[in-house]
Order: sequence, then structure tokens, then C-alpha cells
Amino acid sequence: MATADQLKALIRSHADGDGDRFYAVALQLAAGAARTGKPKLAQDLKTLIDEVRAKAQAASITPRIKPTPLTQPRGELAGILSVSYPSARLSEMALDAPIEMQIARVLTEQRQRQRIQERGLTPVRKLLLTGPPGTGKTMTAGVLASELTLPLFTIQLDGLITKFMGETAAKLRLVFDAIQRTRGVYLFDEFDALGGQRDAKNDVGEIRRVLNSFLQFLEQDNSDSIVVAATNYSALLDSALFRRFDVVMRYQLPTAEVATTVLQNSLSAFDTRALDWAHIAVDAKGLNHGELVRAAEHSAKSAILAESDVIDVRVLKEALEQRKIEHRE
Ligand SMILES: Nc1ncnc2c1ncn2[C@@H]1O[C@H](COP(=O)(O)OP(=O)(O)OP(=O)(O)O)[C@@H](O)[C@H]1O
Ligand SMILES: [Mg+2]
Repeated sequence: MATADQLKALIRSHADGDGDRFYAVALQLAAGAARTGKPKLAQDLKTLIDEVRAKAQAASITPRIKPTPLTQPRGELAGILSVSYPSARLSEMALDAPIEMQIARVLTEQRQRQRIQERGLTPVRKLLLTGPPGTGKTMTAGVLASELTLPLFTIQLDGLITKFMGETAAKLRLVFDAIQRTRGVYLFDEFDALGGQRDAKNDVGEIRRVLNSFLQFLEQDNSDSIVVAATNYSALLDSALFRRFDVVMRYQLPTAEVATTVLQNSLSAFDTRALDWAHIAVDAKGLNHGELVRAAEHSAKSAILAESDVIDVRVLKEALEQRKIEHRE
């Protein structure tokens, strides 16, 4: 019989449009039936899976289609927008359940956007990501692009403001024209530059104007693109801003469980059997995801240099300690 976990995984993979995972779980079910003395059911399941898979392939619903590469924006958009094609998948991120569900929901609505639009509704597409550094905000924008096989356009706002002081609003219009023209994930990274610096040494009036025009553009934008704004300082953001987004995702430092997953994922190609994860989670406390990845990679490289596959507990602990010292600085 299918276990409860398998059934949940089956439904979740369907909801996420994750065909590979769906088939993998379905095959596990068939194998389970064979093991528990139900060869007929096992064979039926296997045949069904083969049929469905062949049909999906025929309809070329292969989930990994590469987006058509676009050249770097030229002309007036050069220096404001840069394009990339990230490859990180959602499954590579270690996230708290609420955020993971929010991301999965965005993906599902985007994948089913035609059905939603046919009924006069709009899939979620304006996202505000807030939270401390290194917790995966920028990575999430990449994952959305990769999962939806869309290009990722990054707008570096602090650059935009300082570089084009006085004409930022005009440049913003160009960006929103591009959002309308070319479907993609548009990441306004380090969004604080717009949202929060009104009392900084920058020209207060200018920032105010830019923020207002951003809000207007955002409000008017009814394109098919996904707009992601990421910031460290949600406290600095105007409450007027929050209302303009369809979803606000609040990233946090990892829990012990998430921290362990980050380390385990980063070290999955190595022998970690000697590690006591409960103890290591204690050492990892306070570090963000990015710092955990870097500590894990340090210990992995030490293993490679020692021509071993085994992660040395002491090296990993030292690397975590080192990141904590840097974190405090
Ligand atoms: N949730 C996560 N799961 C796995 N790895 C993560 C996660 N979050 C971050 N990382 C790792 O940390 C790196 C840095 O993360 P990212 O740049 O997305 O953080 P950020 O929240 O945008 O930080 P900042 O506020 O400083 O811009 C990523 O490239 C990735 O290696
Ligand atoms: Mg970032």
C-alpha cells in the first residue's frame, strides 16, 4: 500500500508541475506493490506510468525547456537591466514550510495562468521578499525564473538611483516598458534603495519622486511578467508599498532543522556518517543560509584536499565558528 508520505508527495509534485518527481514517486508505488505481493497491481501501475509518460512526451510537456536566450539589453536599458538564465531548482533550497508553500503557489498559478486568466482572474505576479541577508531572496528570483524557464532580468536600484539621479523616473519607465514587452522575472534587488532611504543623505525629494513613480508603474503594470522586489529592511518600507504587492514573503534565519538541511544538501556528495547533526545544528545557530553553504563548502574542499570523502567534524565546526566571527563583524 502507498504510504501517507508517498501520497502526499504525489499530490505535491502534481501541484508543483514537477513531472520527474511525480514519475519517481509513482514508480516507488509500483515497486512497493510488487514487494508486498501484488504483482498484478504493480504491473498495471507500471503500464499506466509508461503510457502517461509517453503521452506527456508526445505533447512535449517536458518541464525543462531552455528559454530562448536574449542578448544583454542594449541602448538605454544597458547598465540598468542585466539578463541571466539561472538553473537552481526549488528543490535545492532549504526553506521553512510557509515560504516554500508561497513559492510553490506562485509557480502553480503561473503554470496554470491561462486557465486562471480565462476566468478573468490574475495569477500572483508582484512579489515582495523581505528578510535578513543570505536567506535566499535573490536565489528565489533565480529559482522562479528557472522553474518557469523564463529569463531573469535584474535591476540594480542603488546603481540606477546614483547613476541617473534626476532622470531615474524616466529610466524606470523604460524598465516597466520592458516588463510589458518581454515576459520574464524582473528582480528589483536591494529594493531598500528606493523604499527606505528617504532620510539618508540622498536627495529626499528625488527618492520620494522615484518611489512614487515606482508605485504608479507597479500599480498600472498588468503584464505577464513576474516582478520581484527584495529587501533587507522591511521596517524601513512604507506601508503603502506592501499594498501594491500580491504576496509578501518574509524570509528568516534558518531554524535548526532548516540549517541541518542546508548543510546536508551541500555535503550530499560526501560521507557525513560520522557527523552528529543535532550537535552541529547547535553550532550553526545564528548563521544564515549563505554562511552555512560556505562553511559546508569549506569542509568539503578540505576533504578533497585530504583526498578523502569523509567530512571532518572538527573542520566543519571550525568553519561554522569562523563564519560566526565574520557574521558579528
Ligand atoms: N534557502 C536557501 N537554501 C539553500 N541555500 C541558500 C538558501 N538561501 C541562501 N542560500 C545560499 O546562500 C547564497 C546567498 O543567498 P541569497 O543571495 O539568495 O541571499 P539574499 O537573501 O538575497 O541576501 P541579501 O539580502 O544579502 O541580498 C545563495 O547563493 C545560496 O548558495
Ligand atoms: Mg540578495
